[in-house]
Amino acid sequence: MDMLQCSMSYCRLVMLHLNSPAEAKRWCTEQRDLQKAIGFVPTMGALHKGHLSLVAKARQENAACCVSIFINPLQFEDPEDFKVYPRDTESDLALLEAHGCDMVFMGNLDQFFPEVSNIDEIETLPAGHHGSGLEERFRPGHLDGVRTIVERLFRTVGGSRAYFGEKDFQQTLVVSDLAREMGYPEVVVCPTVREDSGLALSSRNVLLDADEKSRAQLIYPALCAAHDAWSTGERNPKILSATMANALDYDGLMVEYAEVRDPDHWTPKLPAAPLQRAQALIAVRIGSVRLIDNLRLDQGID
Ligand code: PAJ
Repeated sequence: MDMLQCSMSYCRLVMLHLNSPAEAKRWCTEQRDLQKAIGFVPTMGALHKGHLSLVAKARQENAACCVSIFINPLQFEDPEDFKVYPRDTESDLALLEAHGCDMVFMGNLDQFFPEVSNIDEIETLPAGHHGSGLEERFRPGHLDGVRTIVERLFRTVGGSRAYFGEKDFQQTLVVSDLAREMGYPEVVVCPTVREDSGLALSSRNVLLDADEKSRAQLIYPALCAAHDAWSTGERNPKILSATMANALDYDGLMVEYAEVRDPDHWTPKLPAAPLQRAQALIAVRIGSVRLIDNLRLDQGID
C-alpha cells in the first residue's frame, strides 16, 4: 500500500498499473484534486495502432491519460468468441508505457460488480434506441453488455473525456447516449485507422490467415463503392446498400449486413429515401472471424 501511494503521488514517468476499479478510482480522484483533466481510453487489449491513436489524442487533450484493458464477458454473446479473443498483456503494457499512458487498469468482473455474489446475477443495461438493428440483429445483447461495462468504467474514471473509435460506429452512439444521461464524460470519437490496403485495424485481424485477410481487404472497397455512388448523386438507401452487397459477393465472405443509416436519425431498419446524409455500415464473417467497418458517405474520405 505504501509503495502504491508513493508511486501514485511521486512520479509520472512510470506508468502505474492498477488491478482494481477501486484503486483506479482513487488515482483518478487524486488527478482531479491536482486539477488534472483525465483522458480515458477503454479497451479490451490486444492493442494496435487504432487503439494507440486514441491514446495519443487523449494525451494531447488532457493532463493525464488512463487506459483500461478488460475483456468484458458481458458483451460476448458467443462463449467461443470470448475464448479465442486475442490476449497479449505483456505487449499491451509495453506499448502503453512507450506511448505515454499514465495509468492502466485491469479489473475483473467481480470487482466491477461488487453488489452481486455471482456474475450470472448481473443485469445488463439496455443499449437503448441506438442499440437497435444491425449489431443487435447479429449479436443480440452485445451492445447491452458494452453499455453495462462502460457505465462502470465511466463511474470509475469519472469526468473529463473518454475516447472511442469510429470503427465501432453503433457503439459510439450507444456510449454517447450513456454519457449524455450520466452527465459525463465528454465522448470524443476518433477516425478509423487503416492499413495501407484500407482494411480497418482490429484486434481480430491477427486471427485471419493470408487468404482470409485478402477477403477482408474487400470490405473497404465496398464502402468506397457506396461513397462513389453517393458522390454521383445516389440517395436511395436500398441502392447504396445493394452496391456494397455486390462488391462483397465473394466466396468465403459471409455478409451479415451491408446497409446505410442516417447517422442523425437512427432507425433499426433502412431509412426512407431520399437520404440527407448517410453512414454505410458493414459486418462480415470470414471463417470464424467477424469484422465490422463503416464510412460516412456525405463527407470526403481522408
Ligand atoms: P476494443 O475493441 O478493444 O476497442 C477499444 C477502442 O478502440 C474502441 O473505442 C474502438 O472503436 C477503438 N478502435 C478499434 N479499432 C480501431 C481503429 N482501427 N481505429 C480507431 N479506433 C479503433 O470497443 C471495445 O474494445 C469495447 O467494446 C469497449 C469499449 C472497451 C467496452 O468493453
